[in-house]
Amino acid sequence: MKFVKFFLLSFFVLSFFSFKQDSKSFKPGEVWPDDNGVHINAHGGGVLFFEGKYYWFGEHKVEGRRGNQARVGVHCYSSEDLYNWKDEGIALNVSDDPDSPITVGCVIERPKVIFNKNTEKFVLWFHLELKGQGYSAAQTGVAVADTPAGPYTFLKALNPNAGKWPAGYSDELKKKAFPNNLEGWTDEWLKAVKEGMFVHRDFEKGQMARDMTLYIDEDGTAYHIHASEENLTLHIAELTEDYTDFTGKYIRVLPTGHNEAPSIFRRNGKYYMITSGCTGWDPNAARLLVSDSVMGEWEYVENPCIGEDKDLTFHSQSTFILPVQGKKDAFIFMADRWRPQNAIDGRYIWLPVQFKKDGTPFLEWKDEWDLSFFD
Ligand code: DGJ
Repeated sequence: MKFVKFFLLSFFVLSFFSFKQDSKSFKPGEVWPDDNGVHINAHGGGVLFFEGKYYWFGEHKVEGRRGNQARVGVHCYSSEDLYNWKDEGIALNVSDDPDSPITVGCVIERPKVIFNKNTEKFVLWFHLELKGQGYSAAQTGVAVADTPAGPYTFLKALNPNAGKWPAGYSDELKKKAFPNNLEGWTDEWLKAVKEGMFVHRDFEKGQMARDMTLYIDEDGTAYHIHASEENLTLHIAELTEDYTDFTGKYIRVLPTGHNEAPSIFRRNGKYYMITSGCTGWDPNAARLLVSDSVMGEWEYVENPCIGEDKDLTFHSQSTFILPVQGKKDAFIFMADRWRPQNAIDGRYIWLPVQFKKDGTPFLEWKDEWDLSFFD
């Protein structure tokens, strides 16, 4: 009997550690096991491609509602085919030091990594909320590493562009004094927000930076795109040459447009963003924006989703648009189906970006699909 028990236990342990991954398709919304057979834990994520491998970074969540706070850090997985992911462990650990901005119990969201060819460093940026302060700090944090999967060393957290006016902001508006008692959502208040009331309020300490993504343009310049001004206006801010700070150059995108969850890609010389509205963890209709350059004039186009649940982005919220290597015009829309009551069980919605005859991107639901879709 003892022998049978031992045999069964060994069999169980061995099969656990040798979980064979052989996925050949994406199944949006389903449990997505990693190489240990455990559901991938990389929420609000983004993907870096480096030397033949994709690296997926995301928020490591834990069970329950508390799981929305950072208890562990930023999780990294690697893959060569985008279907099967190897657990690379925690790329950035939260700190045990109660005085650290990234102490256990802070909020770390939407981590994204880019590689700097000059410094040969991997640079990780993330939305940071300080422990016990809800979502009021609205900071962005930065960390660096010598290898893609880390470990990353935390450098600092800040509110970007302190003491800097947005590009093209008129002298008249720079001098304007805004009343601080305007009632929210009145015409007067909306006009004041459009004119930069919150930019003024946060001028000294730096601008708010919540939901974020990163983008490297054709010329190697990197941009930090974040929900600012109480989530009412997106800011696109240029990063320094080493990608670890802000140059002070930034634009405001669609003031009062209430966009968060920015994701961005470029096709045929046009830049597209897919964002969401602001309804907390609940899904809402995605928005497609277009511009001729990163720092150009962004315009709202339409809801890019079609078909059933198009107004809920198929029960998800954008996080990143992943260019598939080796295929022309192949982009994957990555989104999160949040489960705030049990954060660790959040699901991933990956869908191919499709294009209408006139080039406008769109998204439609697929129960299952694979990369041959792009052939
Ligand atoms: C929506 C954001 O997109 C998420 O990243 C997260 O911050 C939730 N709001 C929190 O309610």
